[in-house]
Amino acid sequence: MLLWEETLFKDRDIFELDHLPDQFLHRERQLDSLKFCIRPALQGGRPVNALCLGPPGTGKTTAIFKLFEEIEAHSTRIVPVHVNCQMDSTRYAVFYQLYKKIFEHAPPSSGISFKRVFEKVAQHSADEDKVLIVALDDINYLFPEKEVDHVLYSLLRAHETCPGARMGVIGIMSELALNYVLDPRVVSVFQAEEVIFPLYSRNEIKDILSRRSQMGFYPGVIADDILETVVDHTEKSGDLRVGIDLLKRAGLNAEKRASKSISPEDVASSLERSRLVHLTYALKSLKADEKEVLRMATLQESWRAGELFRLFHEKTGAGYTRFHEILNKLDAIRLINADFTGQGERGRSRIIRVRYEAEEILSRLNQ
Ligand SMILES: Nc1ncnc2c1ncn2[C@@H]1O[C@H](COP(=O)(O)OP(=O)(O)OP(=O)(O)O)[C@@H](O)[C@H]1O
Ligand SMILES: [Mg+2]
Repeated sequence: MLLWEETLFKDRDIFELDHLPDQFLHRERQLDSLKFCIRPALQGGRPVNALCLGPPGTGKTTAIFKLFEEIEAHSTRIVPVHVNCQMDSTRYAVFYQLYKKIFEHAPPSSGISFKRVFEKVAQHSADEDKVLIVALDDINYLFPEKEVDHVLYSLLRAHETCPGARMGVIGIMSELALNYVLDPRVVSVFQAEEVIFPLYSRNEIKDILSRRSQMGFYPGVIADDILETVVDHTEKSGDLRVGIDLLKRAGLNAEKRASKSISPEDVASSLERSRLVHLTYALKSLKADEKEVLRMATLQESWRAGELFRLFHEKTGAGYTRFHEILNKLDAIRLINADFTGQGERGRSRIIRVRYEAEEILSRLNQ
């Protein structure tokens, strides 16, 4: 039995999703690629732009934070800026963040124009010989109204209006490909090196979660077979957040029972909540038509792809190629199952099933 003030947690923060882990395992290759892109800037050259792609919860944002931590420790010439495009989704908002980082205070609030903020930022880069590395995290939030074209244009062609200014971009998105047609004037300057973040393998997940448990729990709190169950559930969603959240909730459950260790029931009863963490994050990467297909897919337990397409086509007029792309994405980020059956009118047909309760999806889509 645990006494009143006793706890299972050596360090509770370890299980927070925004905790930056000390050890970032199994992403050496991706970090090396990113460093390779930055390297020219260390020698005063122009950095290579990069695009980080991969499903939710595969370490993209963490990789950027780790990279930036290292840059800040070793170089004063490079100024790394992380922009959360979900919050800062206009050209003005992005440059506002750059200004704040460079000058360590916000621009004067009395209606300063974009042009002015832009000039200050670019001029500083040129005068002080600083290279700005701008990480546009969840860059898909800049797609509406084609804001992304304005942002990239301003960043990557800054040297044309302000000679000597140097900026590089790292775009980040929970997608397998860019799937956005950039303005031709942007394409010529945004030649990005793709850095792919694949799903973690079962062994990698186990490694990472086992390390977290060692750091966060006292010895003996989680037995190996229980950790294996947590790993299984994490692998199903493909999202490490599910595992981290599950460890935290199961630990809290055990603590509530005043037990010194986590039982299988503690995990089972936390699962319902923890698996929804993935749903919440996965939905944020969806475009309007992708949300539409998902919403329609919740109307029945299962669909033949052809039937679902007809419904989607009636409502939006979109063609099969786009529909097919959407199915692949929803399948890849594990919101739906889209397996082939043996039969179908014209050979093999796909059967679509959503992986969550309709209500769980709809309540989040309507938020
Ligand atoms: N290799 C790793 N080692 C330790 N922890 C990791 C690793 N990869 C991811 N994590 C942890 O998993 C969680 C999700 O990672 P992160 O936020 O970097 O994912 P992401 O790829 O940016 O997801 P999204 O596309 O949804 O934004 C974080 O809490 C992070 O600390
Ligand atoms: Mg992220």
